[in-house]
Formats: sequence, C-alpha cells, structure tokens
Amino acid sequence: MKRFFQSIRFQLTITIVIFILVNTIFIASVTLRNFEKGITDIETSRISVIASQLTERYERMYRSEYIARNFADISEEQQRIYLRLFLKTSFEEYFNDLIKNFPELEFGYSIPAIEDSTVFVGNNTYRFDKKLTVVKNVNAGHGGGYIFVDEPLPIVMKPLQEIREDINRIIIYSVIVAIFLVLIVTTLFTRRIINIRRGLKILEKDLDFRFPQFGGEIGDIALSINSMAENLKKNIDAMQRSESLRSLGMFTVGVVHEVRNPLTSIKGFAQILQKKLQGKEEEKYINPILIEADRLGKVVDDLLRFGRPAKIDKKVFNLNSFFDHIVEMSKHYVGDKNIVISKECEGDININADEKKLEELFLNLVINGIQSLEEGNGEVSIQVRKTGENVVVNIRDTGIGMTEEEMKNLFVPFYTTKAEGTGMGLAIAYRAATEHDGKIDVQSAKGEGTVFTVTLPLGI
Ligand SMILES: Nc1ncnc2c1ncn2[C@@H]1O[C@H](COP(=O)(O)OP(=O)(O)O)[C@@H](O)[C@H]1O
Ligand SMILES: [Mg+2]
Repeated sequence: MKRFFQSIRFQLTITIVIFILVNTIFIASVTLRNFEKGITDIETSRISVIASQLTERYERMYRSEYIARNFADISEEQQRIYLRLFLKTSFEEYFNDLIKNFPELEFGYSIPAIEDSTVFVGNNTYRFDKKLTVVKNVNAGHGGGYIFVDEPLPIVMKPLQEIREDINRIIIYSVIVAIFLVLIVTTLFTRRIINIRRGLKILEKDLDFRFPQFGGEIGDIALSINSMAENLKKNIDAMQRSESLRSLGMFTVGVVHEVRNPLTSIKGFAQILQKKLQGKEEEKYINPILIEADRLGKVVDDLLRFGRPAKIDKKVFNLNSFFDHIVEMSKHYVGDKNIVISKECEGDININADEKKLEELFLNLVINGIQSLEEGNGEVSIQVRKTGENVVVNIRDTGIGMTEEEMKNLFVPFYTTKAEGTGMGLAIAYRAATEHDGKIDVQSAKGEGTVFTVTLPLGI
C-alpha cells in the first residue's frame, strides 16, 4: 500500500487532478460571478421597464380621470370616490392583462388614493425566496404610493444553473481524460524503469548482460549502466588476471630453477656426445636432444622472466630510438618472409620507465604480429603518439586475427595456439604494462588482423 502511494503514477495523478480541479473551479467561479452580474443587470432593466410602464400607465390614467371628471372643481372626497370607482377598475384591468404575459414575475402596488392596503399579485411558491425587486414611486400629485415588480432569484439565476452543470461536466471530463493520459504516460515511463530494474537484477548475476537502446533520459541511464558494467567487468578480469599471474609467478620461479641446472648439464653432455659421435650412425640421435633442450631452455627463460620478482629499474629514454631498436631486433624473426615492419613516431617522446621490461613487452607484441602473418607476407606497423600524460602505442598486423573466444585467454600464461609457442609472451607483456601502471587493449577480427594498444604513463 505504501508502495502504491509512493509510486510516480499515483503522485502524478493526484497532482494533475488537483491542478485541474483548482484551475477549473477558479475559472468557473470567476465566469459564474460575471454571468451572475450580467444576468442580474439584464433582468433588473427588464423588470424596471415593466414597472415604469405600469407607473406611467397609472399616471396617464390618473391624468385623464383628472381632466374628465374635472378634479380641479370637485372636493377631495368626491375625487376619492371617482378614483376608486373608475380609475381603480380600469387600472386593475390593465394591470391584470399585463401580468398575464409575465408568469414568472410578481407584481404589486400600494397607492392609497385607490386602495387602502397593498395589492400583491404573484406566484405564492416564491414568497419566501430572495427576490430581485424594482420599486417605482407614484407621483404624489397622482395619489402617491408605489408600484413594484419582482422576480424570485431562483428564476433569475436559472440560466446560471445550466452553465454550472455544463462546467461540472467539463470538470469531470477533464479529470477523466487527465487520469487516462497520466496512466498512458506513466505506463510507458514505468515500463522503462521496470526494464531497468529487471536488467539490474540480471546484471547482479551476469555481468555480460547489456541494456538495449531505449532513447530518452531513461535510455541515457541504461547506457551509463552499460558502461559501468563494462568497466566493472574489465576491472574484475584485470584483478583476477594479475592475482593469478602473481601466484603463478611465485610458483614457477621455484620449479624453473630446479629445471635450469639439469638442462645445462643435458645440453653440455649432448654437445660433448655430438663431437664424439661425429660421423657415426648414432649421431642422428643427438640432434633432437639438442633441439628439444633448446626449446625447453626457451620455455625456462620465458618462465624465469615472468616469475622474476617485480623490480623495476626506471630511467628516462627516448621512445623514437627505442622503437628503432625494436624494429631492428624484430627483423631477426622475419627470416626470409616478405614482411614489412614499419614504425611511425609522432615527435620526440621521452618516457621514464624500465627499458628492459618495455623491450620485452613490445618485442613480444611485434613478434606475435610477425607470427600471425602465416602466409609469409603482410605488414606489422608500430604507431607511437602522445596523448596528454600518456604514450599510446598501436601495434597492428594484417595477420590471421582472432575470434572473441580466442581473445578471452590471451593473457593467460601457457595459453598458446602455436606448435612451438610457450604461451608466455603476452603474460610477460601484460605484467610489464601493469608494473608501469599501464594497460593493454586488443581489437581483432578473424582473418583481417589485430591491433594491440598499449597505454603507458610517460612518468615525467
Ligand atoms: N597478433 C596476433 N594475431 C593473432 N593471434 C595472436 C596475436 N598475438 C597473440 N595471439 C594469440 O595469443 C596466443 C598467446 O600469445 P603469446 O602469449 O605471445 O604466446 P605464444 O606467442 O607463445 O603463443 C598466441 O598463441 C595466439 O593464438
Ligand atoms: Mg608470443
């Protein structure tokens, strides 16, 4: 229940309904007040015309009576008798004729010259209502007193009642329409919010979930959540990777030392045997021993490099000549293949870093690039540029490329797809980059090529 009262839908509905009610009631009351005044004015002047007509007619009748009966010469008593006998009868006849035409009005008069009491004609049902009354005085010379016409207010205000009913109807319709519109709008709105809530629930379990494009402000929120999830995932991956690399490093150093010494003996004795057996049939067994021992030596070297405690020996050096050196060294891995290695360095960039470790890092990436050109031709390009406090190095090849799945294991030690590979190259490169507070990103498309992007702080 509390949830319902706190819902956007309920609050918006209440706000809009109150707004409409206050607004329309205010407009209605102003309009009705103006109407009321207008109607009262019109009715007042209408009944005022009738009252004047009655008064004038009475006075005219009085004057004719005055002349016809020669009031100037007769006594007052005589005048009274005449007035009551003749004027009263004809005036009442006229009076009754007139009032028949206005059944909604009440009439009356109080003229002492023709009647002792007040004459009151009208619809008795209205007697105790408020009334709109117009009183016209009868000239004292014509007998004095007054004539009045009145109209009960409920009758005067009858048109107003109809307008009020119309306004009420409009209010009810607008409230219904508003509630309807609010429901539609909030349904669309809350549906998106519910989608976000549902998405967040999925994200709690599966960091790979991403929101589709929504549009609007809610869409912006969804996009922000997407990029947050993306970053979180990257960070978790990176943390796990460096954690497993560290423990693996400690383990390998121990093992590798145990292997290195016997390996040196094996190689040494094999070389002695090779000399002794020169020209003999058994000589052919020595070569595989030497080749395999070399291969094992390479693995041992890689492992040692990887497992060595992270001691960084920083100094400032120039990246332009550094990469010239990398290109020079990597040429040894090209052999007789038709591979172009190019380098492009924007300006003279200096870095404060461990040169030996960066050499391992970039040489590994360039060698992988060369090895990815399985057809034996293509290009590996190195592009170096400075952005803010960092140097960004792109190492691009036009080789075999990788699928998403293959990219997942890239930096895992011993992961290799090559018959002769140790799977340590990228693990070493990754270690070197993180030791320098840098990072390595990869973009690749199967059959098209790969770009490794190394970002390192210049540290100067
Ligand atoms: N430039 C590249 N193009 C295609 N695949 C690559 C590239 N660099 C690395 N890889 C993939 O990553 C794997 C691991 O590389 P790495 O750690 O250097 O080990 P290795 O080179 O000994 O196989 C490679 O075996 C290869 O499958
Ligand atoms: Mg490699």
